[in-house]
Amino acid sequence: MNAIEIRNLTKTFGEKRAVDGLNMTVPQGAIYGFIGENGSGKSTTEKLICGLIQPSGGEIKLWGKDYRDQGVRSQIGVLIESPGCFPNTTVWNNMKLQAANLGLKNENEEIRRVLHLVRMDGAAGNKFKNCSLGMKQRIGIAFALLGNPTLLVLDEPINGLDADGMRIMREILTDLSRRGTTVLISSHILGELEKIATHYAIIRGGRLLKEMTAAELNANCPTYVAVRVDGTERVRTILERAFGRADIDEQTGEIRVYNANAEDVSKYLFGNCGIAVSEIRTAKISLEEYYIDLMREEK
Ligand SMILES: Nc1ncnc2c1ncn2[C@@H]1O[C@H](COP(=O)(O)OP(=O)(O)O)[C@@H](O)[C@H]1O
Ligand SMILES: [Mg+2]
Repeated sequence: MNAIEIRNLTKTFGEKRAVDGLNMTVPQGAIYGFIGENGSGKSTTEKLICGLIQPSGGEIKLWGKDYRDQGVRSQIGVLIESPGCFPNTTVWNNMKLQAANLGLKNENEEIRRVLHLVRMDGAAGNKFKNCSLGMKQRIGIAFALLGNPTLLVLDEPINGLDADGMRIMREILTDLSRRGTTVLISSHILGELEKIATHYAIIRGGRLLKEMTAAELNANCPTYVAVRVDGTERVRTILERAFGRADIDEQTGEIRVYNANAEDVSKYLFGNCGIAVSEIRTAKISLEEYYIDLMREEK
């Protein structure tokens, strides 16, 4: 079952096509990483999915039903921009107001449940304005979780968080996913996204460039042996002849030999060619590098 199916979705603002014939499929239970440069249409797509704005064309299905269906609408929790909280009011009372707006039953119990899910049990008495950015983002997620939705739509929820804040957010989202919640999360912090996402969509100019599972990304990201030597350009040519593709990383000055093994490379360089290697390690192309390469190819 797919939580979201988007077909040929379009949204125009005047002359501007923010979303332009977009197709996307989010399977039930996925942590779906939604990637694209600023202005590529991520927030607009998320607002369309949540029914906050109306499409100009195309189709959005949630669990096979039209996105306007009341039954499916109540299954979505959303955090786009920051939660609308009163700064001088406690976290608990802000949650009470939100629960009342939603007309929730058993609101105390429900608030305790969601605060626990976002690791905020001890902070209910804090005034909102005294919460850290990480806590505020987690309160936003708690808001989105009120009423126990099965789909969470989160727009850049990890922007500006410190390492600890990111780690907690990662734990929360993985935990929610294990409980069966589908998570659509946009972010340009690809190193973080890569730690949790099960699926990815990369969009540009409101169109889908690439949609793939984490396993497909993995298969598209080769491993390589990185070596540091004197005479980089000459050694690169030698390595390329012996092992196939070898690039020089412009930023670090390392030579990257793809799909090779570190022992073979060092033996070859030293044993066959008498070249001393000052540093050697094995690594893998990251989501970020994959993304940058893809963007370069598509230009
Ligand atoms: N309400 C709006 N009115 C006019 N243009 C908009 C509006 N919302 C978004 N846009 C434009 O649509 C494009 C996509 O924006 P957005 O969905 O916010 O991108 P992203 O979230 O990927 O950064 C941008 O060019 C943006 O300026
Ligand atoms: Mg955005």
